[in-house]
Amino acid sequence: MPSNAAAFLVGEAVRPLVVGPAPYPVPGPSEIVVKNGAVAINPIEWILQDHLMDFPMHYPMIMGQDLAGEVVEIGSEVSRFKVGDRVLGHGFGMLHNNNDPESAFQNYTIVSEDMAAVIGDDVSFEQASVLPLCFSTAAGGLYQKEFLNLPPPSLNPTPKGETLVIWGGASCVGSNAIQLAIASGYEVIAVASAKNADYVKKLGAVEAFDYRSETVVADIITYLKGKTIAGAFNAVKDGFDGCLEIVQASQGGKFITSVLPVPEVLPAGISSRFIVMDPPQFAKSAYVEYLAPALKQGKYIIAPKPLVIGKGLESIQAGIDRQKQGMSAEKVVISL
Ligand SMILES: NC(=O)c1ccc[n+]([C@@H]2O[C@H](COP(=O)([O-])OP(=O)(O)OC[C@H]3O[C@@H](n4cnc5c(N)ncnc54)[C@H](OP(=O)(O)O)[C@@H]3O)[C@@H](O)[C@H]2O)c1
Repeated sequence: MPSNAAAFLVGEAVRPLVVGPAPYPVPGPSEIVVKNGAVAINPIEWILQDHLMDFPMHYPMIMGQDLAGEVVEIGSEVSRFKVGDRVLGHGFGMLHNNNDPESAFQNYTIVSEDMAAVIGDDVSFEQASVLPLCFSTAAGGLYQKEFLNLPPPSLNPTPKGETLVIWGGASCVGSNAIQLAIASGYEVIAVASAKNADYVKKLGAVEAFDYRSETVVADIITYLKGKTIAGAFNAVKDGFDGCLEIVQASQGGKFITSVLPVPEVLPAGISSRFIVMDPPQFAKSAYVEYLAPALKQGKYIIAPKPLVIGKGLESIQAGIDRQKQGMSAEKVVISL
């Protein structure tokens, strides 16, 4: 059995993470073990480290959700993968009560076979590792029944004749929400800074609106006259109020899906929820039936681009610190 090591959070607000030996994870019947080639960093890691969120923690604890690497073991019922496959995967430990074997900041991680996909030989582990958590978050907000409840993504979507507003299209979650909504048959307009307008259009948005413009909300409402919206997706910290004004003024869906907690009281007729992922509602349709073939056929852009800032488990703390400073159409990645 190979020896494993992890970067551990050893106490509340204790830094840096401490690298040390960790148990080698044993896969369940429908799980794979991935030898991680790269891991990506998300805001939740500094939020947990700084204890800024009420969440069940244990110490020492392994954080991390985004990984890409090589399959080294498969569970008895796994049919989609074989040993040696190069994959990306969502290590879901945090959302399984911080179950360490499923977390990413270690050399070997357990991933459910429904939350992984094979990547091409031309895709580096660093590039691939940016995708999983933000893809899952976008899928949760778009497809779960208590959220926008859109039809699943397809390689040949039927146009629905409706527009989805995505506020924060250049964020990592937004980059995936744009592509998934389009694959479900929706027109997408995105709110991003002027410098990222071309970026969100490359991902498929038909129009980009600059969030720093004083008239951004009015401009979007004007653009949407005569159209029907499917609702709005708030993918960033300061996007909710704009989404609210837009859904209030536009014809169509009155639901705002949001990456962050939403106000308890909303105007009559408007509803909203903070995304809490429930993979049974989207993993098969989004990862297995859509993402895996879409990657194979080159129909899905892995975005944003990786910003590789170090190598080895010892570099993860520097990655967390860099993410905390803020990102722009990039994602912090550590090579392992
Ligand atoms: N609920 C969940 O399960 C879940 C999961 C993942 C993430 N999240 C949360 O979702 C948020 C986004 O995470 P992420 O990793 O996708 O973020 P990120 O990629 O680090 O977000 C940075 C991007 O947001 C854009 N942005 C910032 N303020 C904006 C505004 N007011 N309007 C439009 N765009 C704006 C920036 O655009 P410019 O560079 O163009 O200015 C930048 O490209 C975080 O708050 C995170 O904690 C929640």
